[in-house]
Amino acid sequence: MAMGPDWLTPQLDAFAPWVWPSTARIAGGVLSLGGVPVTRIAERCGIPTYVLDEADFKARCAAFRDAFAPWDVHYAGKAFLCTAVASWAAAAGLGIDVCSLGELQTALAAGVDPARLRLHGNNKGEDELRAALGAGVGSIVVDADDEIDRLVQILARNRVDGPVRVLVRVTPDVEAHTHAHVQTAIADQKFGFAIDGGVALAALRRLEGTPGVELRGVHCHIGSQILDTDGHEAATRRLAGLLAQFRAATGRELPECALGGGFGIAYTPADHPLSPADLAARLRVAVEDAFAAAGLAVPAISIEPGRAIVGPAVVALYRVGVVKPVSLPEGVRTYVAVDGGLSDNPRPALYQAEYTALLANRFSLAPRVMARVVGKHCETGDILVPHVFLPGDVAPGDLLAVPASGAYQRAMASNYNGSPRPPVVAVDDGDIRELLRRETLEDLLRLDMGVVA
Ligand code: LLP
Repeated sequence: MAMGPDWLTPQLDAFAPWVWPSTARIAGGVLSLGGVPVTRIAERCGIPTYVLDEADFKARCAAFRDAFAPWDVHYAGKAFLCTAVASWAAAAGLGIDVCSLGELQTALAAGVDPARLRLHGNNKGEDELRAALGAGVGSIVVDADDEIDRLVQILARNRVDGPVRVLVRVTPDVEAHTHAHVQTAIADQKFGFAIDGGVALAALRRLEGTPGVELRGVHCHIGSQILDTDGHEAATRRLAGLLAQFRAATGRELPECALGGGFGIAYTPADHPLSPADLAARLRVAVEDAFAAAGLAVPAISIEPGRAIVGPAVVALYRVGVVKPVSLPEGVRTYVAVDGGLSDNPRPALYQAEYTALLANRFSLAPRVMARVVGKHCETGDILVPHVFLPGDVAPGDLLAVPASGAYQRAMASNYNGSPRPPVVAVDDGDIRELLRRETLEDLLRLDMGVVA
């Protein structure tokens, strides 16, 4: 078995504050979040559970809003959306990006002003476009010629109040420094219209002349979990160049430019993300330089963080069920199996994502052992935390807390192996409130049409 040197590196303090929500505290060995000890959360809500620090979530919304003002900040709902979260983001002044009928309905059910919604997706169905137009969403980001055809047909057949505002998703062919599966702006992938070869310019020109459409500008999203700004800066230069080409061709300057999301967070103490203020400062300079170089006035800019807002606000709580030391030539690796795994967090399996974990229910002075936290699913790749030092007396019944669990976890959770998906509970100022309830075994059987003879 190949084991990298990371297997032997001494433990970085798992409780590094930049990895945990702002209200996380440890007293007498017990972790508390939002003023509630995790032991109480486990008792009240069961395990596994995603615990959302409400104050932390709201503070991150406000931090992005304030750091980037007067730019517009949209929360990318795909990271995690429920009505409570949508309403908190909207109350903080953020728009909300949705990428499906389901997310659109959730945002509308939360009472979010439709004008603050933006519809994404690389293959929007007629039902999604119709619903978005019917609701009066603020804008639609078109991704392909076939989508423009669909939009044109719907507009021709239906009465829609006022023109629909459209942005064109473009592919600037820049590389983001992140995992290959979450890079979205290189040439060889499915999203958007390529700037190269004039494809994006042709789409802009087509929409410019489409009745019922108000062409607003361009959009790009280069990837996710990016910890520097090189990719965003390069993309900004290419977007400004495209808008300059459009002006040269039509004499018109488009009023909007959306830079997407993708801002990385700390999953382990080894990650050092930029603060919203630092990100904003760097992107502001990039935008001003890029548009000055293109000879254009700076248009209205927007960004779409998802992970950076909800990711750090959530801690996943698990209960240990099995502890198994496995002897290897290099030493002993302690497998710690919890009552969740791949079904509530597929990210390690999909993206080799790293996490950390903390013994959360008690104090222990036992010497640390090299552990691997795994789930309960029938897969060798069902790993939650590949490498972490845990107290050697970790035992069945203990609680483990995994921070940075808010983004693309509940949103990507599955019922694999017949697992009911865990609840999301908000903690704040000593209170616990359920945002999404735990699925039940009845829920799992609800779609089953019964035995067919
Ligand atoms: N805007 C657009 C158009 C997007 O496609 C995305 C994410 C975002 C904004 C928000 O990106 P964020 O700020 O959250 O990085 N499941 C993967 C991530 C997929 C991202 C999809 N698009 C993961 O778990 O890492």
